[in-house]
Amino acid sequence: MIKPDAVTDGFSGPIIQQIEDAGFRIVAIKKTKLSPEDAGRFYAVHAERPFFQSLCDYMSSSHIIPMVLEKENAVEEFRTLIGSTNPAQAAEGTIRKRFARSLESNAIHGSDSDENAAIESNFFFTEQELNG
Ligand code: CMP
Repeated sequence: MIKPDAVTDGFSGPIIQQIEDAGFRIVAIKKTKLSPEDAGRFYAVHAERPFFQSLCDYMSSSHIIPMVLEKENAVEEFRTLIGSTNPAQAAEGTIRKRFARSLESNAIHGSDSDENAAIESNFFFTEQELNG
């Protein structure tokens, strides 16, 4: 998911280019906006963290671009491509290093397991959009 900071900053194009150049196939994609409640459901696993409310406000502040991506070993490869959560610690050339503003406004989210990838895909897309 490309996050509000990167969409607002006009980085959607280069981010998608970098994702495709790395060999990921886009299965589904859209531009949409989350309500604060939607953001809270998406990030429910972080509900007890001190940054949760701020994260929900930020994630619902503007448009996002969720995508479902396909590649061999996709979860691990995508996490390498996007870099560390904190862009200050992300490796050179990673998406967060290139395009993120801060630890919170970190340009992009990647699923952390195949199981969560399936849950997060179903959060944004219908069966028809995923398989059509
Ligand atoms: P993401 O990988 O999408 O997962 C949780 C998000 O919470 C993270 O990226 C950041 O956008 C945000 N966040 C804000 N503060 C922190 C923090 N201290 N540690 C981890 N994530 C944070």
